Amino acid sequence: MKTKNLKTQVAIIGGGPSGLLLSQILMKQNIDTIILEAQSREYVLKRIRAGVLEHGSVELLKNAGVGERIFCDGKKHDGFIISSGEDSFRIDLSTITGKSVYVYGQTEVTIDLYKAQDELNAQIFHNVENVKISQLDSDLSKIRFNYLDQTYEITCDFVAGCDGSMGISKNYIPDKIKKNYIVNYPFSWLGILSNTKPLNHELIYASHDRGFALASMRNEKLSRYYIQTSNTDKIEQWPDELFWKELIKRLPKEYSANIEVGKSIEKSITKLRSLILEPMQWQNLFLAGDAAHIMPPTGAKGLNLAFSDIFYLSEGFINYYTKGSLNKLNNYSDKALKRVWKTVEFSKWMTSILHTLGDNNKLMNKLNKKELQKIKKSKNAQKVIANQYVGLPY
Ligand code: APR
Ligand code: PHB
Repeated sequence: MKTKNLKTQVAIIGGGPSGLLLSQILMKQNIDTIILEAQSREYVLKRIRAGVLEHGSVELLKNAGVGERIFCDGKKHDGFIISSGEDSFRIDLSTITGKSVYVYGQTEVTIDLYKAQDELNAQIFHNVENVKISQLDSDLSKIRFNYLDQTYEITCDFVAGCDGSMGISKNYIPDKIKKNYIVNYPFSWLGILSNTKPLNHELIYASHDRGFALASMRNEKLSRYYIQTSNTDKIEQWPDELFWKELIKRLPKEYSANIEVGKSIEKSITKLRSLILEPMQWQNLFLAGDAAHIMPPTGAKGLNLAFSDIFYLSEGFINYYTKGSLNKLNNYSDKALKRVWKTVEFSKWMTSILHTLGDNNKLMNKLNKKELQKIKKSKNAQKVIANQYVGLPY
């Protein structure tokens, strides 16, 4: 069958939050995009991910015309709790930084982005197959793909690789150029979603001898909890009642005493790792979001770091198409990676200090407890954490 030819300015591989937000920002500047997504829209929207938006992410979504529901349905949080056993203290984000964060699920962000893209008549192909990129070193690059048994070829100025950790775009950066920095953590997170009242109005990050726990939420009737498990644990080992029992043991009694337990409506185990890929660009290809970096959700940074990439990348494309300058695009990878390294470091630090290592690591566990006691007494330490948590400036 004859190949159908398409043309656009920026072809985006991946219709998750990164690809959708990039397309939204560019289309609002009359820059033409096409999004290629391997899954169906329903599948993308079924993904349960973290739920904290940094100040910068909220501003970016608002300026892209996608912020309305955050302010209606999202919850502004001015602080969060860190506990160690029965002891706890609050990081007062708004007093320390003058900023807050919003608790608003990534699923909701993706719903809002798809709605906004539909209103702009965005060209989004779902369930695409065999996506292949070529001619990245030419003025015009090509992307071939199959959709509904038809082969297409897109001719474009640039390719944005927003295809996540399992995507293909990173494979087009030559191995001799590419550097992968990876660490796998010796523990996982078991997360559940339940139609129960959150046990506290602010998030609780709990360090405990039995393991880490996190109490979060999506709204007043939808709780999101996590507990640290081993990397070999299987979901079958964690019936709901065992999960609740373990969670309660890890949270301070002052909070867990009022916990409302209930049936899980979603339950999954995620292995934790940090990964940074350098560089984030190669010729006409630019990587953003999970395609270039992964980190443990301890600091709620995955989505927010994806969005700061999109801020820098969209600035680069807008600068090119409105002023004819390649400067910002040429500096994209260096600029984005500066914030990536700082954010991945914060996520790694927060993960290491709050999680419990096995019995053969009693010294590390004891040092973590002492570190948490120092932070409780140190306004300076709390200032560093608060500034990272609300999000470093773009
Ligand atoms: N062709 C087209 N689409 C692809 C391909 C491919 N070859 N490979 C992957 N994709 C799609 C995936 O189906 C997914 O929908 O790319 C999208 C990438 O989306 P995400 O993985 O959500 O990554 P990103 O958009 O960068 O968002 C980062 O999502 O997973 C969370 O924790 C992560 O919060 C972070 C956020
Ligand atoms: C969540 O609500 O899913 C969540 C919140 C904060 C985190 C991680 C996950 O650090």
